[in-house]
Amino acid sequence: MIKNICCIGAGYVGGPTMAVIAQRCPHIKVTVVDLNEKRIAAWNDPDVNKIPIYEPGLSQVVAEARGRNLFFSTEVDQAIDEADMIFISVNTPTKTYGIGKGMAADLKYIELCARQIARVAKNDKIVVEKSTLPVRTASAIKDILDNTGNGAQFQILSNPEFLAEGTAIEDLFAPDRVLIGGDTTPEGQKAIQQLVDVYANWVPKDRILTTNVWSSELSKLTANAFLAQRVSSINALSELCERTGANVNEVAKAIGLDSRIGPKFLKASVGFGGSCFQKDILNLVYIAKSYGLHEVADYWEQVIIMNDHQKRRFAKNIISTLYNTVSGKKIAFLGWAFKKDTNDTRESAAIYVADDLVNEQAEIVVFDPKVGQEQIQFDLNYLNTRTEEENKNAVKSVANPYEACKNAHAIAILTEWDEFKSYDWKQIYDNMLKPAFVFDGRNILDKKALEDIGFKYHGIGVNEI
Ligand code: UDX
Ligand code: ADP
Repeated sequence: MIKNICCIGAGYVGGPTMAVIAQRCPHIKVTVVDLNEKRIAAWNDPDVNKIPIYEPGLSQVVAEARGRNLFFSTEVDQAIDEADMIFISVNTPTKTYGIGKGMAADLKYIELCARQIARVAKNDKIVVEKSTLPVRTASAIKDILDNTGNGAQFQILSNPEFLAEGTAIEDLFAPDRVLIGGDTTPEGQKAIQQLVDVYANWVPKDRILTTNVWSSELSKLTANAFLAQRVSSINALSELCERTGANVNEVAKAIGLDSRIGPKFLKASVGFGGSCFQKDILNLVYIAKSYGLHEVADYWEQVIIMNDHQKRRFAKNIISTLYNTVSGKKIAFLGWAFKKDTNDTRESAAIYVADDLVNEQAEIVVFDPKVGQEQIQFDLNYLNTRTEEENKNAVKSVANPYEACKNAHAIAILTEWDEFKSYDWKQIYDNMLKPAFVFDGRNILDKKALEDIGFKYHGIGVNEI
């Protein structure tokens, strides 16, 4: 039976997942390690509200388990040495250099982990891939472990993460399914069973699925590709709705009632973001291309092309509506995170919309309940489209939404934070330049109520022609 788990990587996946395993399995010691000292220090902050990741319910789980059987540390070697089971939960960003640039996953951090495990491990271990990885990564990890280790035996399992940020704790408490892939050998099956036993502490057995490694790895990419495809499909229709006078919310509702289609993931938006969708689809495309399957690659790539178009279209619409110039105009952004209830901003549509508007010399002031100036500047600088100084001058962030909107020409809603709905919109209107525009990139505000106040409202796929 597994008694000691180590997780390498204390990020959005490793942190919440391990916190829940520790809370639900008090008999297992769980140590989460990371090279980033600042991040570990934040996880250990006596004030649980200061942990580095914002996720509803997470701080309570951490408060219960931390110091009991949940530990955060920078002592990577020690944690590896002591563990029976090691989760690899490090980041796998899209490559920014060399072959596969802009498409393939950068497996540098994964390989470093594998080498570190090989160097440190003195006894047999089960290594679990938790990060999203291209198909056949497990075999690379196995190669390194088998050929550079100290004679210890390793079993590699794939246990992809299906949690969505903002609902991570809910998703971990009651997952639709847990997927565990492993070797078909008796040793592989034994390792699978040991991980099944960990989850069985709180997940019903019929929700724990076991497969071979490749199916498990590919299922993760496929699930995200299908979800992202739904968003791109409805977003593609949103543009047609705007031209024809149909209302995309009504269309989504009407088709969602068909039980074969279902109501979820049909919210038209300014475009999907997050660390998974784009990266996983690009991975899928890259894998397909590398097997010479060009039609397969093109089919999935279109999901990304549509998403890029949707972000760009939103910015274009703001510019053309504001009389074809936003130069020197103040535009307030409500929201910067890629979705509500998270402080994660990776691939957020807000970044790209801001970039387009700054190219047109707009002045942007951002308010996000959980994202501050430092992160916003980091995201813009990461795009590498202008200097840090220029970004600082063009995009500012304030801690108060009313201040963000004061004297603005237009407001753009980039994230669907619930609190935006309960703002005093009359007060916001009174303090804006007229005509006052709202570009609701999430269709969360009440169009009629805003128009009654005097706003000119533009949602996604809902305008009268
Ligand atoms: C996703 C998967 O849902 C999850 O299973 C996987 O483990 C990781 O990737 P996440 O990226 O956290 O999770 O968020 P998700 O809720 O899937 O949203 C992704 C993006 O799509 C967000 O920007 C969201 O705003 C957008 N979206 C989602 C829409 O625009 N419309 C929708 O109807 C749903
Ligand atoms: P995710 O959303 O996949 O969890 P994050 O970027 O939030 O991604 O988290 C990944 C974490 O992994 C980062 O905190 C990073 O410092 C850590 N990390 C990367 N490589 C290593 C390594 N070799 N050893 C320990 N931690 C690592």
